Amino acid sequence: MTTPVSLTRQGKVGLIAINNPPVNALSQAVRQGIIECVLQAQQDDEIKAIVLYCEGRTFVAGADISEFGKAPMEPHLPDVLHQVESCTKPLVAALHGTALGGGLELALCSHYRIALAGSKVGLPEVNLGLIPGSGGTQRLPRIAGVEKALEMITSGRPVAVESVVEQNLIDQVVEKDLVTAAVGFAETLIADQAEPRRVSEIQLSKSEGHDQLFADWRAKLKKKAAGQQAPQYAIDAIENTILLPFDEGLQKEREMFLACRSSEQSRAMRHVFFAEREVVRVPGLAKDIKGHDIASVAIIGAGTMGGGIAMCFASAGIPVLLVEMTSENLERGLAMIKDRYQQNVARGRMSEQQLQDCIARIGGTCDYADLSEVDLVVEAAFESMEVKREIFSRLDQACKPEAILASNTSYLDIDQIAASTGRPDKVLGMHFFSPANIMKLLEVVRTREISDESLATVMKLGKRIGKISVAVGVCYGFVGNRMYACYGREAQALLLEGATPEQIDKAMQSWGMAMGPLSVVDMSGLDIGYKARRENPNRSDDPLFFRPADMLVEADRLGQKTGSGFYRYDSESRRKEVDEQVIGMIRDEAERLGVTQRTIGDEEIQQRLIFAMINEGARILEEGIAGRSGDIDVIWINGYGFPRYRGGPMQYADEIGLDKVLQGIKAFQDRLGDRYWKPATLLEELVAQDKKFSDWVSKD
Ligand code: COA
Repeated sequence: MTTPVSLTRQGKVGLIAINNPPVNALSQAVRQGIIECVLQAQQDDEIKAIVLYCEGRTFVAGADISEFGKAPMEPHLPDVLHQVESCTKPLVAALHGTALGGGLELALCSHYRIALAGSKVGLPEVNLGLIPGSGGTQRLPRIAGVEKALEMITSGRPVAVESVVEQNLIDQVVEKDLVTAAVGFAETLIADQAEPRRVSEIQLSKSEGHDQLFADWRAKLKKKAAGQQAPQYAIDAIENTILLPFDEGLQKEREMFLACRSSEQSRAMRHVFFAEREVVRVPGLAKDIKGHDIASVAIIGAGTMGGGIAMCFASAGIPVLLVEMTSENLERGLAMIKDRYQQNVARGRMSEQQLQDCIARIGGTCDYADLSEVDLVVEAAFESMEVKREIFSRLDQACKPEAILASNTSYLDIDQIAASTGRPDKVLGMHFFSPANIMKLLEVVRTREISDESLATVMKLGKRIGKISVAVGVCYGFVGNRMYACYGREAQALLLEGATPEQIDKAMQSWGMAMGPLSVVDMSGLDIGYKARRENPNRSDDPLFFRPADMLVEADRLGQKTGSGFYRYDSESRRKEVDEQVIGMIRDEAERLGVTQRTIGDEEIQQRLIFAMINEGARILEEGIAGRSGDIDVIWINGYGFPRYRGGPMQYADEIGLDKVLQGIKAFQDRLGDRYWKPATLLEELVAQDKKFSDWVSKD
């Protein structure tokens, strides 16, 4: 059996190489291998100094996350790292790629660190609901300072090695030939009779401003990372570096790490980590179908959405042609794009040169004849089946036969749109989320006749433009908006029943949603949903359905853009204010509709909204609209502000137990009736089999 860690010798330098693709994660075998090789090198009299490096694309990118849910296996990482730091011969870590998590902790236990230019180091554990658990919180502040450590550990953001040379985190950055340079570095240490240098021996002491510094960070993260436990634990652990001796701080760090590792939040965030990587493997799509490259794109419609979509392609280096009906519309669209790029420059997100390059990639036309050579068209026109069918039939005539035609519709039946062309195997949905140039999510809608090649091409393109692409099936609203309709429906029903907009928004925000549902509709405009509900081929005949929202639209309160919606907005500061008038209007409407208002608790609000969404999610799985429960979670986290630390709606349901969810739904069914609260068959089946959503695999 080949071992992932090996020791060789070059002159007086022992070379420990880690080779555990794809990212050299610290699996049990790697941990074991490191201990053995360090011991061997130490016992070998010919070896005077050691270089530890990694084969492949990166230095160790962390602990093996897939081992976290299983029984821990010896040797444990802190023991391995203790062995490394205690080594009696100078040990140099040679870093390339991304030295993250346990990888950086390993480097911090090494006595010297040399890195290839362009590499990054970081402690991203908070992104997995964890804190570094093998000395990271104790060693990083000792070498880089408390403030730098607070910044790196609580944000989880990796930094360029070049930027931390000054903090002594990296001793030397080299442009090329890393291992050769590291051996040279080790030989110099031997010649200089340099001793091992141990970060754990650095003493930190408390200074005057420290109490305030930690208090400020705690307050800041309470807001910025609201609801999350790990960042607060990280601050406690870092503070220990100035309060406790190293060994005690290390012990406390381990206790906090273990508490985090077994927490609901960390399980949720680990689930999302793997689910976001799993989405690229589309169920039913053969692995060997790779898709082809798209060299040019056209966008139909230069409005807010079309412009944002154009920016996604231009920013990824793909030439774009914007298509509008009139030159005035085109000019307006192009000016808006330039304006948005300029805002990016002003915020330091891109350089002036990058702006010029992006703008140069965007052309415009009012003539479909100019689309004859493009590889892909994304239609972002008015949400009307008639309009879209006409556009697609024109595109079918104008574009080359191999071009793929995509619609950005949020709701409509793309199978019907595809049927208006002679190439239904090349028609599908690319549902971007607003603002399209910022939001990570892309729903790729698989039409009935879409070919595997076209689907694979668009999935690949999604990755190229930096999106998290999730393949979904055709139905009204696809995955995200279909579930959102249930979530919104309950928010509206609760308003009639006596909850106020502010109470609902606060309840959902304190549960973890990025924004409350009524603030969201005020922001996007109440008229959008109003129109969509009227155009829904299965329009609801329930007189209570979205009645508060519809009533506000009929009173010309369209949200932020008209200065009033569920809230009132100050004309200058745009600040949101509670509007008693709206509360009164809803109360009167409830009375008219025969709904008795009552006092409603936050817990009911949270359960109604979340359970409604989960029940619909179960139907979506059952119908094969989403291939896996994790796909639904990825959509909600990246498109709708669902808290990552709750793992998405389906993971949340799995976590609290599907039996509990079913029980809750049945209780609402008893109280509110069958219309909206009939439990999904799949949910009942899974409960009967004592299974979870994550156990469910589509039969197709
Ligand atoms: N443990 C186990 N598997 C890991 C891993 C880890 N720490 N880091 C990455 N992987 C796996 C991914 O699941 C993926 O597997 P797949 O190809 O089967 O889907 C593969 O390695 C490649 O990862 P991916 O993220 O797709 O590659 P990338 O080049 O875009 O990014 C990293 C590489 C290292 C930057 C990124 O994977 C990452 O951030 N990893 C997590 C680092 C971390 O949090 N470490 C601390 C752990 S406590």
